[in-house]
Amino acid sequence: MYKKTFLLTKPTVTDLLVKNTRNLIGAITKAVGSGGAVDVFLMLHQYATDVIAEFTYGPHGSTNSLVDTTYRHVAEQFALSDRRVYQLCQIHLPFVTKIYDRIVRVLSSKRKIGVFEYGWQAVQSVRKEKITDPEESLASLMMSSRNETFSDAYIASELLDHFIAGSDTTANTLTYLLHELSRPQNHSVQHRLHQEIMLINSNSISLSEIDKLPILDAVVREGLRVFSAIPFLEPREVPAGGRIINNYFLPEQVFPLSQSNV
Ligand code: HEM
Repeated sequence: MYKKTFLLTKPTVTDLLVKNTRNLIGAITKAVGSGGAVDVFLMLHQYATDVIAEFTYGPHGSTNSLVDTTYRHVAEQFALSDRRVYQLCQIHLPFVTKIYDRIVRVLSSKRKIGVFEYGWQAVQSVRKEKITDPEESLASLMMSSRNETFSDAYIASELLDHFIAGSDTTANTLTYLLHELSRPQNHSVQHRLHQEIMLINSNSISLSEIDKLPILDAVVREGLRVFSAIPFLEPREVPAGGRIINNYFLPEQVFPLSQSNV
């Protein structure tokens, strides 16, 4: 499901990317039109969360937060630091957090659900649907697995990992990238990128075509390199007997390191 060839050619994935990107452009245009400042950091968290939620849980599990406020707070939880304190308390002070939750539940009439609860509800709603295309989302893929049967709790836990891993990383990388592009010394890059993008036919967008744009490719790669959301190298130990990776033989017990931006 994460292979680029799959992502670029599967209509459900390309459609969700195009739809949510149009939502982002619409939200930015509206905010600019109303004359206020645009909080790109928050908006990109909404965008990334909408894309990843739909990719993970399918069309019925989308947060759709750029156009609908119902689950906007779920998207914003990834961005706002006060939520981080709450999450740390959930881990280190579970008893106190449960009491706090109960008090909030009693005091507030409209309780807003958190990321964990959202993930659980989304899995439940996919479970209720008839799955026609196992590859529609990660949830439908796990539920249709013929080799193994996974419990809903297992699926929810696994998918939460993807939901959380994909949102912050994407949103933070895009925020830094846009900030860098907006700096005066990079106006020429922004201009060249704009010219390249304007050549795309916006009525029939093809992701394979977008993937071939050289300036966009260079800008994204440079963004990932300079503003790496996970900057450290990730070591892996080659198992007994060694392995051939990308036509290179790696002997056992070697620790190859890979950078997330390549
Ligand atoms: C700029 C965007 C992103 C960056 C920089 C990034 C970076 C990384 C890195 C460095 C790792 C650790 C890899 C390792 O252990 O060797 C990782 C793991 C992971 N990422 Fe991303 N990621 C990004 C976007 C995404 C997206 C969009 C998704 C999902 C839709 C995602 C899902 C995951 C998952 C599920 C893992 C754990 C894989 C495992 O179990 O080993 N990431 N990511």
